[in-house]
Amino acid sequence: MADQNAAANNELSTCAEVRRSFIEALCALGIEASEARREAEIALMHVTSSAAHELLLRADQPLAEAHAQALTEILNQRLVRKPLQYALGETYFMGFKFAVGPGVLIPRPDTEVIVEAILAEIKATAGLQQRCNLLEVGAGTGAIVISLLMLCPNLTATVFEISPQAAHFCRINALCHGVYERLNIIEEDYMTGLPQLSGHFDLFCSNPPYIPVELARELAPEILLYEPALALVGQGADGLGFYRNFAQILPSVPATAQATMLVELGQGQGADVSAIFEQAGWRDLRLLPDLSGIERVLSARK
Ligand SMILES: C[S@@+](CC[C@H](N)C(=O)[O-])C[C@H]1O[C@@H](n2cnc3c(N)ncnc32)[C@H](O)[C@@H]1O
Repeated sequence: MADQNAAANNELSTCAEVRRSFIEALCALGIEASEARREAEIALMHVTSSAAHELLLRADQPLAEAHAQALTEILNQRLVRKPLQYALGETYFMGFKFAVGPGVLIPRPDTEVIVEAILAEIKATAGLQQRCNLLEVGAGTGAIVISLLMLCPNLTATVFEISPQAAHFCRINALCHGVYERLNIIEEDYMTGLPQLSGHFDLFCSNPPYIPVELARELAPEILLYEPALALVGQGADGLGFYRNFAQILPSVPATAQATMLVELGQGQGADVSAIFEQAGWRDLRLLPDLSGIERVLSARK
């Protein structure tokens, strides 16, 4: 990936040259220029352990050989469409760093909407100083629950995660962020585990697999080839199987009188998922938009 003339003269390429080659290689794959620029920035910051402004200040300076090599290794993984986050082994969510890798869903920025909504709920009801107990189904990396545990010192939580690889990442992230003691990770199908659960919960949440199988076929290669289908593809032709099961099973879980339930939704699923929870007896239903104005979260009260 180094500039050819520089390589011929055994010279090191500058940061700017290496960055340009990285962007060109990604664009040649069909990745949008803005995304290619963003990835080049993140990859360069990662290999050099530098901030974006430091890279700009050093744009005309040569990139150390070890850094150039590390960048080439990342690019080689991107050339077979492995997601950048898997190549780096990390991603950021709610401003916190999370370990990620094959076998676990990469947390998406849209999912920050449910975290913000749960935070607002905790502040409005219990307040950050009160004890609060949360249950999440499908923890993945633990992005939602671990962010909340870090932001709410009096929160305790239980999560179900069926995938051993995902549960492993969740444990690592909880340990790294110092919240492991307040998190009970149950590596089991929630359908069998939930009815046997003890303890009273104030909040229920999930970002479940909700993509209808038909639409899943059209996902970008990074997602389709590398991210776990178990985390993405919803049950049933409409992808809404999880919500139907969750709405039915939740009343059997011990909860406080005013318990609130929040679930993330796929685009265009707001009305159908609201109807599912309304029919199951949930009230005060509210649909919350993401930054693009898409209905992203449904909240409801017991
Ligand atoms: C969309 S991912 C969400 C991961 C994480 N909460 C996030 O927002 O990034 C859904 C997660 O649910 C898990 N899952 C799917 N079916 C499950 C089940 N029956 N019981 C427990 N977990 C399940 C998947 O393994 C996956 O980690």
